[in-house]
Amino acid sequence: MDDHRADPLRAGRRRVLITGAGGQLGRALAEAFAGDDVLALDRAGWDVTHPAPAGLPAPDLVLHAAAWTDVDGAEDDPQGAAAVNVGGTAHAAELGAPLVAFSTDYVFDGRKAAPYVESDAPNPLGAYGRTKLHGEAAAGETAWIVRSSWLFAPSGRNFVGTMLRLGAERDEVAVVADQVGCPTYAGHLAEATRALVGLPFGIWHLAADGECSWADFAEAIFDEAGLDCRVRRITAAEYGARAPRPAYSVLRSERPEAPRLPHWREGLRECLAAIRGAG
Ligand SMILES: NC(=O)c1ccc[n+]([C@@H]2O[C@H](COP(=O)([O-])OP(=O)(O)OC[C@H]3O[C@@H](n4cnc5c(N)ncnc54)[C@H](OP(=O)(O)O)[C@@H]3O)[C@@H](O)[C@H]2O)c1
Repeated sequence: MDDHRADPLRAGRRRVLITGAGGQLGRALAEAFAGDDVLALDRAGWDVTHPAPAGLPAPDLVLHAAAWTDVDGAEDDPQGAAAVNVGGTAHAAELGAPLVAFSTDYVFDGRKAAPYVESDAPNPLGAYGRTKLHGEAAAGETAWIVRSSWLFAPSGRNFVGTMLRLGAERDEVAVVADQVGCPTYAGHLAEATRALVGLPFGIWHLAADGECSWADFAEAIFDEAGLDCRVRRITAAEYGARAPRPAYSVLRSERPEAPRLPHWREGLRECLAAIRGAG
């Protein structure tokens, strides 16, 4: 591999390695850190269930966004999910550079009636949350563990894309109304991550301001996108997903210096504007 130190144009620039660069957060991170010397690796560039490819230039900072994110699929193949979410994080930590490891609100059981803060005890309900919690432990001492929630972005598999498609096809969609969280725009999380890497290591809750149910979120998507589609509010039990999910998983930080993210509705507007701009 090339020696970046020999290149005067790169001198002094932080070398940032992004894993999972093909995902919605990975892409947003590549944009937010564009001022750095970024090496963005998608699954083809580095399958994180294996150690890092030989000859990878030593990074100054690792943004580990690769993950098994299929929450229901993790119930069917918990070992496959663990290979990515625990083994992959251990491999990222082995690089020896300060590491940002992304985790999830699904490490909590959702039985609390107030927002979850960093010192609350995790108790995941499903296989995905368990693998993410073990992944946190695999990140090591020189890591920021960033718990976020309900991510969405202009591209990739996410709730906003699904609702835009269904809302254009149907008069009505049935959406779960008894799960509440913080829908977080990947672009806002990526910006907050940039601020975070100047702060101490440890667990940080970084999610959008505000809270809502999936049904509220769907209504906001139709409203902002000008789609004439009704939301029929159903329970999680009626929806019948394979994996159990927390009923309430709003994340807030108890750390005064934590970067604050904009409200989820502002994230939604930015996301829709980016989709319109790309279309
Ligand atoms: N999505 C959410 O609602 C949410 C909520 C809270 C926290 N998070 C966390 O935020 C982080 C980013 O999630 P995201 O929303 O950006 O997910 P995403 O869009 O599914 O991206 C994850 C990326 O990881 C890649 N990947 C999967 N297995 C891999 C492997 N073995 N080696 C290398 N890459 C692999 C995927 O590639 P393929 O496309 O090829 O599978 C995908 O590009 C994850 O840590 C996730 O747990 C997500």
